[in-house]
Amino acid sequence: MALQSRHLLGLRDIPAEDITSILDAAVSFKEILSRPIPKVPTLRHVTVVNAFFENSTRTRISFELAEKRLSADVVNFSSSASSVNKGETLIDTIKNIEAMKIDLVVMRHPLPGAHTLLIKHCASKVINAGDGAHEHPTQALLDMMTIREQVGSFDKLRVTLVGDISHSRVALSNIYGLQTMGAKVAVCGPPTLIPRHLENLGVKVYHDVDEAIAKSDVLNVLRIQQERQDQGLFPSIREYHAGFGITSARLDKLNRPILILHPGPINRGVELDGDVADGPHSVILQQVTNGVAVRMAVLFLLAGGENELE
Ligand code: NCD
Repeated sequence: MALQSRHLLGLRDIPAEDITSILDAAVSFKEILSRPIPKVPTLRHVTVVNAFFENSTRTRISFELAEKRLSADVVNFSSSASSVNKGETLIDTIKNIEAMKIDLVVMRHPLPGAHTLLIKHCASKVINAGDGAHEHPTQALLDMMTIREQVGSFDKLRVTLVGDISHSRVALSNIYGLQTMGAKVAVCGPPTLIPRHLENLGVKVYHDVDEAIAKSDVLNVLRIQQERQDQGLFPSIREYHAGFGITSARLDKLNRPILILHPGPINRGVELDGDVADGPHSVILQQVTNGVAVRMAVLFLLAGGENELE
C-alpha cells in the first residue's frame, strides 16, 4: 500500500484510489487514537521537520500529534524564530535542515507553489500544509473524511463552499478532491470573493446563500481572510453577515439535515453564527479530531507505507 506520488503537494492530480487509501487508513488510525495508549511504532525510523513559514494553530499541532502518535522523531521550525529573518533563502534553509538527515518535510509557506520549488532542490518527501491561497490538501482530506463518516458516500453529494473562495487554499483542495470522488461541488459568496475561472472547473456558483443552502447537503463555511485582503471586497462585516452569514434562522427553513463544516479559525458572527457552530448540524470538532487521523494516514502512506499497521 503506497501512494502514486512521493509527495503530497495538492489534490489536483491525486487519483480517487489514493484518496480512498488515505481515508481508509485514517479510519484505522482513528481507532488507534481512541485506545488507552494512542501510539504505534510505525514511523520510529522516520524524522520529520515541520517547517512553518506562516501562522498556524490547528494544522501545526495536528501534524505534530500525528507524527508523535506514529513514533516519528519530530523537529519544529517556525520562520519567526529562524535565520529566515537574517535573509536566508527557503532552499538554503531546507537544505541545511536536510543535511542533518531528515526524511520528510511538512511545510506551510505563504507563496503559492513554494513546495513545487522545494521538491526540485531537496531529496526529502514533502507534504504541503498550506501554500498561500493555493492548496491545503490535508485540510480537504480531513473535511472529506468527516463528510464520508457522516453520510457514507460522495456520489452526487452536493457540497457548497461558502465565503471567501478567492483567498482560500481550503476551497481549491476541496474542489479537486471532492470532484475526483464524485461529489457535485458549488461555491457561494459575493462576486468579489469568487475567482472568475472557477466555473471552468465545473463548479456551480451561487450568489444567494439561501438558494445555496436549499440546494446543498453539506456546507463548508470558510473564513473571511482579512489578512489576505488588501482592499475592501465587501462593504462591511455586518453586511457580509447579513448577506452570507450562516445563521440558525437560515438553516431552520430547511426541513432536513445539512452538515456544517468549517476549517477554523472561526470568526463567530461573521461567516458563521456561534449557535450554528455549536449546534446539531455542526461537525467542526469532529473535523479537528479527524485531522490527526488523516495526517497519520498521509505520513504513513508516504513515509512508511510498506510497514503493516500495528
Ligand atoms: C485554514 C488555513 O490556514 O488555510 N485553516 C486551517 O488550516 N485550519 C483556513 C483559514 O485560515 O481560514
